[in-house]
Amino acid sequence: MDLSARGLRRIYRSGELTTEALCGVDLTIKSGEFVAIVGSSGSGKTTLLNCLSGLDTSFDGEVKLGDLSLSQMSETELARFRHEHVGFVFQQFCLLDHLTALENVILPGFFGEGAGDGVDPFKRGRELLTRVGLGDRLHSRPPQLSGGQKQRVAVARSLFCNPSIIFCDEPTGSLDQDTGLSIMKLFEQLNREDEVTVIFVTHEPYIADMARRRIIVQDGRLIEDKSQTSVWPDDTGDSDEKLKEVAS
Ligand SMILES: Nc1ncnc2c1ncn2[C@@H]1O[C@H](COP(=O)(O)OP(=O)(O)O)[C@@H](O)[C@H]1O
Ligand SMILES: [Mg+2]
Repeated sequence: MDLSARGLRRIYRSGELTTEALCGVDLTIKSGEFVAIVGSSGSGKTTLLNCLSGLDTSFDGEVKLGDLSLSQMSETELARFRHEHVGFVFQQFCLLDHLTALENVILPGFFGEGAGDGVDPFKRGRELLTRVGLGDRLHSRPPQLSGGQKQRVAVARSLFCNPSIIFCDEPTGSLDQDTGLSIMKLFEQLNREDEVTVIFVTHEPYIADMARRRIIVQDGRLIEDKSQTSVWPDDTGDSDEKLKEVAS
């Protein structure tokens, strides 16, 4: 399903102070795209991501996924929408430290319909953690894991309910360069193999180079939006060397 925004405006008000964080954004992202949203700090990237993903509906204008209009949904419908269609990955991982990696991954299953009828959450959790390369760390708790491993757990969690879109706000922002690249490689693989739409925010140009489309936000407006040849080769060959070249 395509995701679209028309005349999207978001104004923050606190007391006398108002900030127009988005000033009329029009945007369509097609199913299966791999998109980077870039811009300097305070330009409106997080606000845009939050409005597109249904975390924030205090906007003017319209955001739609297919025929579903987010601003017309009740809180319950919105929660169901996010649960069924959307995965989230954040800069700060947002894992629960007292749960194991596996328990963190299956946690979304305790809300709504879980991973679907007849799906064993523990089996699915194990498969997802194995997929992100953590099959041997199922029972580790976040404090025992490195930053990159924590982000892999967060990616596995975001996939638990089979989202059609994953939204990532600075997913590599807390990671060193090599680890950040390996996380981006994981997103690219999910995008290519599972056709999950991936929309990520970054302020780092070499991370934005990974995407197939780059949108630049400045002062709440889109000032550039174009497709780019990503650094990923079309084949599935090892692109590590090429990536390091780009990053250096
Ligand atoms: N909750 C909020 N209340 C008031 N102003 C906010 C809030 N969140 C963000 N802003 C303001 O909106 C603008 C865009 O912020 P944000 O979307 O977080 O930018 P970015 O993610 O690009 O750094 C900034 O001027 C910021 O100070
Ligand atoms: Mg931000």
